[in-house]
Amino acid sequence: MATPLPDNIQTAVVTGGARGLGVHIVRALHQAGFRVVITDIDPKPAEALASELDLAGETAVTATLDVDKPDDFQLVLDKVIERFGRCEVLVNNAARTAAQNVFDIDPADFNAVMATNAGGVFTGCQVFGRHFRERGYGRLINLASLAGQNGGTATGAHYAASKGAILTLTKIFARDLAKDGVTCNAIAPGPLDTPMVREVLGDNLDKALANIPVGKLGAPDLVAQMVTFLASPQAAFVTGACWDANGGIYMR
Ligand SMILES: NC(=O)c1ccc[n+]([C@@H]2O[C@H](COP(=O)([O-])OP(=O)(O)OC[C@H]3O[C@@H](n4cnc5c(N)ncnc54)[C@H](O)[C@@H]3O)[C@@H](O)[C@H]2O)c1
Repeated sequence: MATPLPDNIQTAVVTGGARGLGVHIVRALHQAGFRVVITDIDPKPAEALASELDLAGETAVTATLDVDKPDDFQLVLDKVIERFGRCEVLVNNAARTAAQNVFDIDPADFNAVMATNAGGVFTGCQVFGRHFRERGYGRLINLASLAGQNGGTATGAHYAASKGAILTLTKIFARDLAKDGVTCNAIAPGPLDTPMVREVLGDNLDKALANIPVGKLGAPDLVAQMVTFLASPQAAFVTGACWDANGGIYMR
C-alpha cells in the first residue's frame, strides 16, 4: 500500500514548465518538497517530466494552460483546488522569446509578444493573487529578464518591453497583496545555458561570452534555486523585489 502524503504538502503551479528553464524550476520545486503542476501549451514533454518525477501522479501532474487564454488560469486553479484542496505558489515562467531589429518588428507582432509575456503574467497574478489573498498566504514569482532592465542585447524590443512591464506588474501586485501574506517577486536572469539561448545566439556564442563579465552563460539550476527560495514560507520579507542573475552584465 502506498504511503499517504502528508497533508501539509504545498502545491506550486509552473507555466511553461515543459521545456528549458521551466524544467529546472519544476525539478527544483519537486526536490524541495512541493507538489508541482506542470503547465504548458506543449503537453507531451510536460507529461514525460511528470511521470519521471512521480509515476503515481500525486506529487507531479500536468495541465494545459495557454497563458494567452485568461480562462485557462482560472480553470487550472479550480482543478488544482478540487483535486488537492490547496495551492500556494504560481511561477509565471512561460514566455515567447523573440529576436528582431526594432525597425523590422510588425506592430501586430509587438502586441502579440506583449500579450503573451506581460499579459500572461498580469492574468496569472490576478487570478492566483485573488485566491492567495482570500487564503491569507501565497507566493507569486515572475520570470522577468535582464532585457527588461537594460533593453536587451540579443533579443527584440517586443520581448524587452514585455519584460520591463513584468517588473512593473511585480511591484504593483506586491504592493496590493503585502498585507495579506502574499508576496510577489521577479527574477531577472541574463543569458542562461538553455536550448533557447543557444538557438538565439547561434554562431555568436563566443562573442556573447566575451561580453559577460564572468565569462560564461548562467546555470538554469541557480535560477531554479532562487525560485524555490522565493516560493518558501521563509521568504516572507521579500516582496516587490527583482533578484538579478546576470553574470555581472548589469550592476545596479
Ligand atoms: N533562457 C534564458 O537565458 C532566459 C534569460 C532571461 C529570462 N528568461 C525567461 O525565463 C523563462 C523561460 O525561458 P526559457 O529559456 O526556458 O524559454 P523556452 O522558450 O525554452 O521555454 C518556454 C516554455 O514556455 C512555453 N510557452 C510558450 N508560449 C506559451 C503560452 N502561450 N502558454 C503557455 N506556455 C507557453 C513553451 O512551450 C516552453 O515550454 C521566460 O520567461 C524567459 O523570458 C530566460
